[in-house]
Amino acid sequence: MSDSALATAIAQVQKVEQGLAPAPVVRTFFDEATFTATHVVHDPATRQAAIIDSVLDYEAASGRTSHTTAQKVVDYVRDAGLEVQWQLETHAHADHLSAAPWLQAQLGGRLAIGTEIVRVQSVFGKIFNAGTEFARDGSQFDRLFRDGDRFSIGGIEAIALHVPGHTPADMAFVIGDAAFIGDTLFMPDYGTARADFPGGEARQLFRSIRRLMALPDATRVFLCHDYKAPGRDHFAWETTIGAERQGNIHVHDGVSEDDFAAMRTARDATLSLPNLIMPSVQVNMRGGRLPEPEENGTRYIKIPINTL
Ligand SMILES: [Fe+2]
Repeated sequence: MSDSALATAIAQVQKVEQGLAPAPVVRTFFDEATFTATHVVHDPATRQAAIIDSVLDYEAASGRTSHTTAQKVVDYVRDAGLEVQWQLETHAHADHLSAAPWLQAQLGGRLAIGTEIVRVQSVFGKIFNAGTEFARDGSQFDRLFRDGDRFSIGGIEAIALHVPGHTPADMAFVIGDAAFIGDTLFMPDYGTARADFPGGEARQLFRSIRRLMALPDATRVFLCHDYKAPGRDHFAWETTIGAERQGNIHVHDGVSEDDFAAMRTARDATLSLPNLIMPSVQVNMRGGRLPEPEENGTRYIKIPINTL
């Protein structure tokens, strides 16, 4: 089966490896409260940049949001003299709130996510009984990427790959020789993302991961999360496709789809839901915006009882 989007991504990485195209610079900000890696990637020649998977601080007990984590990104972008072209989301996260609209107000950039976000909006719009004012057409975003859509960051070529399984809408962004893979693979010693959220599917996740693993071994891989594997005392968020193929504990070369699906399904059955799933999904399905205020001017997060 021909996969022209993958072939384009491979050629793009090889061009950087051969010195025929520039490599992007990546700076990562790791939020230990939600175990999330926010990446700022830029073209050193033009200083154009993208921010990938940002974090809005949220204290569940008080319902307070703050911008301490996102402010670090703003400070870095300004100090480095970067111009933000894109605010990219690999998917609608269930474990942290996105700071993309706030960052967009500070720094600019077009907000983008995968086009299948409309399916996520449809599912969670129902679960949270969001009402007709909640558009389920992706219109909260400036750009909806399809598999194989090409874009650029300054002079650096980039391509979006649809990698569903964790959610139906997950995207990986291959920017020069760097792949930002969202919730698919984690560090080799930790394994893979869960596939049991509404619309998730373990076999689909396996096929998406095998597709990413077809990228050149030297492809730099940047993760969305890290949880420190047993025996590792520091957080890590960068690896390579070669290291994943050789050593990923869930899905190294030689693991079959059947074996992966059985392992993933059994493991997912033991996991509790993320602490911030209720606020995260309600905010992130709206492109990172809080729900509209009620008549008293206050915004509320709902909790459906005995539903999730
Ligand atoms: Fe996720």
